[in-house]
This record gives sequence, C-alpha cells and structure tokens, in this order.
Amino acid sequence: MSNQHQYEVVVVGAGGSGLMAALYASKTASTAVLSKLYPTRSHTGTAQGGIGAALGNLEEDRPEWHAYDTVKGSDYLGDQDSIEFMCNKAPEVVYELEHMGLPFSRTPEGKIAQRPFGGHTNNETGKPVRRACYAADRTGHMILQTLYQQCVKNKVTFYDEFQVLDLLVRDGRTAGVVALELATGELHVFHAKAVIFATGGYGRVWEITSNAYANTGDGIAIALRRGIPAEDMEFFQFHPTGIYRLGILITEGVRGEGGVLINDKGERFMGKYAPTVKDLASRDVVSRAMYLEMREGHGIGGKRYLYLDARPEAITKYAALDGRKNLDGSPYTITGEELLKRLPDIIDFCRTYLAVDPVTQPMPVQPTAHYAMGGIPTNVHGQVLIDENNTAMPGFYAAGEAACVSVHGANRLGTNSLVDIVVFGKEAGIHAANFAKEADFVPLPDDPSGFAREQLERIRQGKGDERVYQIGQEMKSIMFDHVGVFRTEEGITKALQKIRELKERFKYIHLDDTDKKFNTELLSAWELANLLDIAEVTAASALARKESRGAHAREDYPERNDANWLKHTLAWLKPGNIDLRYKPVTITKFQPKKRVY
Ligand code: FUM
Repeated sequence: MSNQHQYEVVVVGAGGSGLMAALYASKTASTAVLSKLYPTRSHTGTAQGGIGAALGNLEEDRPEWHAYDTVKGSDYLGDQDSIEFMCNKAPEVVYELEHMGLPFSRTPEGKIAQRPFGGHTNNETGKPVRRACYAADRTGHMILQTLYQQCVKNKVTFYDEFQVLDLLVRDGRTAGVVALELATGELHVFHAKAVIFATGGYGRVWEITSNAYANTGDGIAIALRRGIPAEDMEFFQFHPTGIYRLGILITEGVRGEGGVLINDKGERFMGKYAPTVKDLASRDVVSRAMYLEMREGHGIGGKRYLYLDARPEAITKYAALDGRKNLDGSPYTITGEELLKRLPDIIDFCRTYLAVDPVTQPMPVQPTAHYAMGGIPTNVHGQVLIDENNTAMPGFYAAGEAACVSVHGANRLGTNSLVDIVVFGKEAGIHAANFAKEADFVPLPDDPSGFAREQLERIRQGKGDERVYQIGQEMKSIMFDHVGVFRTEEGITKALQKIRELKERFKYIHLDDTDKKFNTELLSAWELANLLDIAEVTAASALARKESRGAHAREDYPERNDANWLKHTLAWLKPGNIDLRYKPVTITKFQPKKRVY
C-alpha cells in the first residue's frame, strides 16, 4: 500500500457521527473513514437506553418540549438555535434510521417503542414523557451496525486500525491528516479537501468511567496542538448509575422502566432532591444527590455505592406510590420476563461482572464519568470555529462527542448524544461534501508527516524510568477526586498542579516495546499525552468558572451566576499555560430561570 492517499473528504472516527457523516459525504464526494478501531467496536455501540425524538407514539409530545427540556437540562448554557435545530430534526433522523433497517423495539401496534428518560417531560404537566426511542437496551449498538452496513453498501472506503496523529494545515486551511497504520507502524498521509473529526470523548481522564479504553480525546488534543481552542471543557457529565468500581453503564432506561435508587437505610431518597420527577431528574441532579447521600454515611454498608432497585416487586410498589399508570389507565407493573426483554444487556452485565441478578437483587451503582459536553467548537453544519467571533476554519469539521455545537451546554439530557451524532454527523457530511465540490486541494505542507513522526520519536526515545500506566493512574485518581462531581478552588488547583507535574514526568517515560508492528504500548503513551493535555484544559477551565452550573458543581460557589457566567469558555493550549477567552450563549425563546425538577 502506498503511504500517500487522496480523498475529497476524510472522516476520522467510525462511531455514529463518523459513519453518518461518511454516508452523506460519500453520496457526492470521494470519502474515506480512518478509525483506530474496527468500526463496529466504536463506543457508540455501548449507548443503551434510547435516542430522543418527539414522535408522540405513546402519548402527546412535541419537538418544542424536547427543545425546552434540553435547554433546561443544559442549565441554560446550550445554544438555543442549535438545540431547536436538533430537536426539530430528531423525528426525521429516527425515521431515516428505521427505514435503513434499524430494529427498534415496537409498541403492540408496531410503532417505534418509546420510554421515559431523565429530564424528558410533558411541559404542561411537568410529568415524565415517553420520548426515548429504543432497541431494547442496545440502541447505540443497533445504530452503529445499521450505519456501518449502509456505508459498506455505499462503498465508503475504510482504513481500519489507522490512528490519526495530526491535522495538516496550510495557510489556515485544512490539507489532510497523518495516520499511523497500527499493523505496520508506517505513517500515512491523507491529502483531503475536507476533514471531519468524529473522534469521540475522553472519559478515560477519570478513574471510574463508562467509557471504552479508546476514548482518549484524540481529536480534541490534535486540534489543540494545532492552535484550535476547546469549548466548555469544564462540563463533563457523571452518569448516576455505573456498576460499582467498574463504571460500566447501567442505562437510565432502568429508571425509565420504574427502577429506583435506594440508600443504606432502605430509603428511596430522590424525592428529597427532585420532588416531581424523583429518579428521573437530570443526571447532574441525580449524581449530586447520590454523592450527598454517600457523604452523609448512607452509602451501602458505609461504602461509596448505592442500590438501583429494579426488582419487579420494587418497581410495582414505587409505581403505585407515584400513581404511575399504563396508557389504558391500569396500574403500572412489570414482570421479570418483561424486564429481561426490555433490558437484556444490563441484566447480563450484572450477572456476568457482579454475580448479581437484577430480577431478584438490587444493583450496586455509583456515578461514573460518562460524557463530554465540551469539545471542538462548531456551528450546526459541523464547521470548526476557531475563535470567539465564530470564524470557521475552511475545510475542517467536527461532529459527535468530539464537537461542541453546543446543544448540551452544562449538562446533557439522556438520549441526546445519539440524536446529536445522527443529526450533526449528517449535517457535517453534507456540508463537507459541498465544500469539497467547490474547493481545490490545498498543497500539502513540506514534510507533512514531520510533526507526527517527531511526537512518536520523542516517546520512543524516552530514557527515563517513568511508566505510562503509573502516570495514567495518578491522573485518573486526582481528576476523579478533585475535578469530578463536586469541585473546590483548593481541589482543582491541586489537580492542575499535579497534571502539570505529570506532564513533566511524561518526558521521562520508558517503553519496553521497540517494535513497529502493533506497538500498543507506543499508542497508549501517545493517548496518555492527549489525556494529560485534556485534563489540564479541563481543570484550568473549571478553576476559572466561579459558579455552579449543570455538571460543574463548585462547593465554594454553589449558585449559578448568570450575570457573570452565562457564557461559553474557549481554551487554548499554550506551553505551560492555558489561555481562556469567552463567547456569549445564544438565547432564542427560553429566558434563563432556576431549574426545578
Ligand atoms: O443511560 C443511558 O442509556 C445512556 C444514554 C445516554 O447517555 O444518552
């Protein structure tokens, strides 16, 4: 294989946003997808509970209600024009997926089934609404398989197990990317008119996470090194229900089906924190409530976990107390068989990893680092924005969790990640292909693979005695303790100092594997460098934001402060420093008010 390639559009990443972008770009432009993994191993495959769309299949729902819930969930930091765009497009993309063959679960009449999820409400009654369209608890898996099949059918070219290391830029325009072929250790140059980063999130910064090993923020780190800012990085979502110590996701769909959180005293405590929607409050609210319960010594056996109780008798009992009804007005109940049918994967995970059977036993859970609300700044067409004036960089696009549109603001609503990847993946693919039709190839810079080669060589030639694993563990631990669910000036400062110290120590790492082929140790070291840069940007952005909003809960500044902080953070990575600037939030219909659940 020659090491130089040319495509009109290159997509980096093969999760839902990358595949949707590739599918649409490939309709009119030569398109390649570069993925560090085999595509169907991408992290989209772990999304469980559903994709939100106001189809109204089971009860009244409206895209405006979806938009308002998203704005409210975002703690008013989401850009309302982008949110309205996404929520209005959501039904169309869900039907598009259905027509591609996605095997959604069904209502008895054969419509797409929908279930309640945190923060999804009937805006008139304030009660939970069934908006999450689901395929059992494997919705992301089904989206990934469906889109991959469509891409193969449409003859998209895939470069599997190619790790992109650098974005090529000339005179402020995108010229392509440089990638490492894992099987050979060779560098490849991909000359492109347009590049779409769909590289996913970076939950691996934290000790307990639902994120796959591959989620190391590569695209964001590459962009930062090329002088492109990252937006709103202080907002990282902790999902309330990760399996204790392992962090593996237990879908919010469990609470949608009626499961409840229980403390050591056997109390269903969420009523204290969110009297109307209780266990179905937004994720930031539930995660904080869990931490407060554990701090007060109500963790199970005094430990750092609580129970998620989805036993049919518990669901039936609490549904009766809440007055929850089926659509025909009969009392809501669920049987063990129904639970198995609706939540097969999480039941399997608990049986396999914990020897706990959720049909007969409560599940031990703790909040787990789950989702990046921030990322590479973009507009609704996926164009990357490089400053506070929203200047677009010609030919560079981002979509999905790597991007910040910003539809999630300070806290994402469950199911909106899947809407985001499909809606904005599609927009980015269409816009990039149109751009490629008009634009010429920008000449490649001299020695295009030079910067990527230099990064790898620096790691390979390390002569110290520092180890990748050790530095990674220290980073995860300090970030989990001090830049997690609750934060203080003292804790964040400590974390920032530690991250900078770890970056220094990283210069002295030593690898055992000097081979070129499948050198996963080299790759882990390069990924760790990305995580350290991202941890530094996250901590610096969090330290500066002196308020509490959504997932950013400062104990020393417990109130939201719209007068000073209703604005997006933009962070630039500089040697030994992070430059911070700010830009306004777009407000259309919904004036900020205090959130009540
Ligand atoms: O709880 C879940 O199923 C996760 C969904 C999401 O992050 O949107």
